[in-house]
Amino acid sequence: MPLDHDAASRTEEARAILRANDRGGYTVPSARMYPFQWNWDSPLTAIGWACFDPDRAWQEFETLTSGQWPDGMIPHIVFHAPSDGYYPGPDAWGTSHAPRTSGISQPPVAATCLRRLVDGAADREAALRRARPLIVKLTAWHRWWHETRDPAGSGLVACLHPWETGRDNAVEWDAPLAGVTSRVEVSALRKDILHADPAERPTHDYYNRVMTIVEDGKTVGWNGPAFHARSPFRVCDLGIQSLLLRADEDLAVLAREAALPDIAAALEAWRVRSLAAMTRLWNPATGAFHSLDLLTGRLTESVGIATLLVLHAGAASRDQALTVIETWTRGTATCRFAAPSTLPAIPGFDARRYWRGPVWPFMNRLVADGFTRYGRDDLAERLRTDTRTLIAQSGFREYFDPFTGAGLGGKDFSWTAAAWLVWAGHDAGAAAD
Ligand code: GLC
Repeated sequence: MPLDHDAASRTEEARAILRANDRGGYTVPSARMYPFQWNWDSPLTAIGWACFDPDRAWQEFETLTSGQWPDGMIPHIVFHAPSDGYYPGPDAWGTSHAPRTSGISQPPVAATCLRRLVDGAADREAALRRARPLIVKLTAWHRWWHETRDPAGSGLVACLHPWETGRDNAVEWDAPLAGVTSRVEVSALRKDILHADPAERPTHDYYNRVMTIVEDGKTVGWNGPAFHARSPFRVCDLGIQSLLLRADEDLAVLAREAALPDIAAALEAWRVRSLAAMTRLWNPATGAFHSLDLLTGRLTESVGIATLLVLHAGAASRDQALTVIETWTRGTATCRFAAPSTLPAIPGFDARRYWRGPVWPFMNRLVADGFTRYGRDDLAERLRTDTRTLIAQSGFREYFDPFTGAGLGGKDFSWTAAAWLVWAGHDAGAAAD
């Protein structure tokens, strides 16, 4: 049902959501459903904070990196304070870091968001001084991706768990997960289905498989190389590959400006290597980029939103970009709202279930940025107005049905509020960064 208040009051509402989800230096994605600090939610929410409380935005990066492991990994969840509203909590992960954390990572968007923060700062010199230790920490994390998760130096980084990709139950992971034999039964432990309609959440079978991978990580004491060698799930996720490429570029720019030339050179070298490897993810037959199952050597068949993140990374040639845009535009013609997380014709598409079809506002912003990078401000603007309409009609929900615009998943969601503040709530204009 349409909300009857105007854009200004929605902006107030978005700020109020961030304040309500603030736990003192970090923002929970959603108060009941996700009561800890999540890796990629945090910087994407920080840029929302920066619109009205820049100091609070910086803190978000500082608390997130307090969870960094000695090997450089920044975990996907930092459990700063106990809460029994979420499964799997710290005991289920069984890691030994303080503060307690999960044992896997998430898409590396922090550097890109940090650059935005510096670019928007009133005092650039002061911002670069505050950014300096963060640049060093984020580079250690990027190194972890490029080395621990790519021991052969192929230019393609591995994800060992679907939750690392951030698109937790995307259709892309069905085939690789089919190769994981469940050894646990966790349906009775799940809390997510208490907070959201089970029809909008992953299945029990899925949960048993993903928690089996967690058991594998625990078995090797979460040792990076050992987990890489052992995990029954090992894919190069097009999303992480692309976001890392973009983040390497953004971090290198910051590092040069912060007088860290060695770091900048390392980041630039990684970017060159990763860019060259992108040809392995391109399929001329589908006119799209795909994720790659590193255990079977097969490209995933599904075409999902990650194919557009390649544009955000500036990693497609002009011809590839034209083709991807054509594939996507044709494939989503039946959707009232852009951009679904999977093309509707793909088997396994589900308009209401999590990453299998719904629209995610923060993702639309990243994709819009990619369209702008390739000169398609018109498509970027369509994403912005669609996102604006979805939020106006259905509130600050976690995700939305691409056909009806119905709001789905969690409510009062932090990165949805941030996407409004930095982009969708603006009166006009193309992508924000
Ligand atoms: C879900 C999403 C993931 C996100 C988390 C917190 O698990 O799939 O991308 O980080 O919720 O919002």
